[in-house]
Amino acid sequence: MALNLKVWRQANAADAGRLVDYRLEGLSPDMSFLEMLDVLNEKLIREGKDPVAFDYDCREGICGSCGVMVNGVAHGPEPASTTCQLYIRSFRDGDTVVVEPFRARAFPVVKDLVVDRSAFDRIIAAGGYVSVDTGSAPEANMIAVPKAESDAAMDAAQCIGCGACVAACKNASAVLFTGAKIDHLVRLPQGTPERERRVARMVGQMETESFGACSNEGECQAVCPKSISVRVIQRMSREYVRASLKGY
Ligand code: SF4
Ligand code: FES
Repeated sequence: MALNLKVWRQANAADAGRLVDYRLEGLSPDMSFLEMLDVLNEKLIREGKDPVAFDYDCREGICGSCGVMVNGVAHGPEPASTTCQLYIRSFRDGDTVVVEPFRARAFPVVKDLVVDRSAFDRIIAAGGYVSVDTGSAPEANMIAVPKAESDAAMDAAQCIGCGACVAACKNASAVLFTGAKIDHLVRLPQGTPERERRVARMVGQMETESFGACSNEGECQAVCPKSISVRVIQRMSREYVRASLKGY
C-alpha cells in the first residue's frame, strides 16, 4: 500500500510549525500506525533528515502516550482504539493522511507530534489517589463492595490519561478525564475518606491548568479509546456540588 502523509513538523514550542508532505510506498496493511511512522523515520534518517518526534511506550493500548490527530480525529478513525492499535488497513491505497499533535492550550507542543500532558499529572497529584496504610494485603472479601459499584468503578478506572477527550473537545475540557478518576475512586470504600477534598482539589487544579468548561458536546466520549462514558462527568458535577455544600 502507498500513503501520502501530511505530517505536522514543529522544531520546538516557539516554532510556528507546518504540515510537510511525505509519500510512503510498499506499506503492509497489517502494519500499525506507529510502525508506519517508524518506516517514515528510517527513511528520513537515511536521507540525513530530522526524524518525526512522536510519543509512545507500550504500543498495546495501555500507556496512553501515543495519541495524535489522524485526519482530524483523535487516535484516528477506528472506534475505541488508541493510535498504536490503528492499522494501515483502516485506510485505502493512495489515501492522504493528515497527522497532527493533540491541540489544546493546556497541552503545549514540545516537538512535532509530542505534546506536554503534565497538566494531567498535576490534576492527579491534586487529589486523584487514596491514602492507605501500607502492610500486608487485606483478605479479598474483607470490605464488601456491591458488584454493580465495583463494575462501574472498573469501567471508570480504564482511563489511560491519553488526552484524546481534551483534543476532541472544542473547549479543550478535561472533565471526562477528571470525572473518570473521581468516579473510579468515590465508588469504592477506600476512596470515600478523601471524597470531598479530592473533588474540590482536582476540579480546582483542572481550572488552574487552563482546560475549558464542558458544554455537553459528547465529543470526548466519541473518541475515548477506553469508551469512558459521559456519566462520569455527571458524577463529578454532583460530587463537586456536594463538596461545596460541605464547605470544601
Ligand atoms: S477519558 Fe478516555 S480519552 Fe480521556 S484521557 Fe481517559 S482514556 Fe483518554
Ligand atoms: S503506545 Fe501506549 S497506548 Fe499507544
